[in-house]
Amino acid sequence: MKQELETLLQQATAEITIASSEEALQELRVKYLGKKGALTTLMKGIGAVPPEERPAFGQVVNSVKDQLEELIDATLGSIRAAAKAERLRRERLDVTLPGRCKPLGTKHPITLVIEDICEIFAGLGFQVAEGPEIELDYYNFEALNFPKDHPARDMQDTFFVDDNMLLRTHTSPVQIRTMLKHAPPVRIIAPGTVYRCDSDATHSPMFHQIEGLMVDKGITFGDLKGILTVFVNQYFGKNIGVRLRPSFFPFTEPSAEVDIACVICNGKGCRVCKNSGWLEILGAGMVDPEVYRHVHYDPETISGFAFGMGIERIAMLRYGISDMRLLFDNDLRFLSQF
Ligand code: PHE
Repeated sequence: MKQELETLLQQATAEITIASSEEALQELRVKYLGKKGALTTLMKGIGAVPPEERPAFGQVVNSVKDQLEELIDATLGSIRAAAKAERLRRERLDVTLPGRCKPLGTKHPITLVIEDICEIFAGLGFQVAEGPEIELDYYNFEALNFPKDHPARDMQDTFFVDDNMLLRTHTSPVQIRTMLKHAPPVRIIAPGTVYRCDSDATHSPMFHQIEGLMVDKGITFGDLKGILTVFVNQYFGKNIGVRLRPSFFPFTEPSAEVDIACVICNGKGCRVCKNSGWLEILGAGMVDPEVYRHVHYDPETISGFAFGMGIERIAMLRYGISDMRLLFDNDLRFLSQF
């Protein structure tokens, strides 16, 4: 009996020591210490032991049982420790590695031009104003002194929604909306999207303008030229020349086209300025008294000027973009350069 116990202890010890997983250990625990396990079976044979030897035999069985239990627990401990060490090794993170960068977008050149121009005029005391893109005929034409039969009202140029409503063809209706809401003095700059039924290499049916309006006591044509010269010199460069040519708009009198010295050839003459040395950048003029009548301003006591420029054209000149369609294609290779 004793000999059998000895053999069992040796065999179990050998098997437990080389067990490599928790499951294998669990099986061994059942095999030796379970209800039908080897040790239990041996214990049941106690009846064959002479009565005087039984206490000693029982003690030995218990001690073998304790030894095996201890050994199993210890082995289990080291298997678990090894598994944890392995997991830590596998899941090791180098927290000093740089993070993965999300690609950042860039602002569209049209947005850049709008922001830069608004900032310059903000510095001159102008406030940003806005108006709707779907506009009433009244604000887009009538109040701006477009006679009923003016060619700009022709279906060819204007997208009409119905008899009274249209997609605004310029940002000038914001002048009317502003003056109807605010008594003079007003000083606003109004960027926005405008629409004309026109589409070719140099025209897009949807494009952008910035409108300016300044009305107060004693505003003169000299103020118009002064403000625009400050703007041109801040936006395009210090010594860029500015030239005004007589023009016509129904809502300004007198009116002018404003040119700047060609920023491509410095006024010497090139393909962009068609060898004239000058580039037209905006339309402007003194607000026509007929417009003041519609907004209940008194042209005897106040005066003012307005101007409007096409943003696509400014962007092309400022960034040297040769084809306007690039501004609408949304090609990331182009847009990410800004
Ligand atoms: N609204 C005019 C246009 O679209 C530009 C302009 C604005 C002219 C203000 C004079 C004064 O062509």
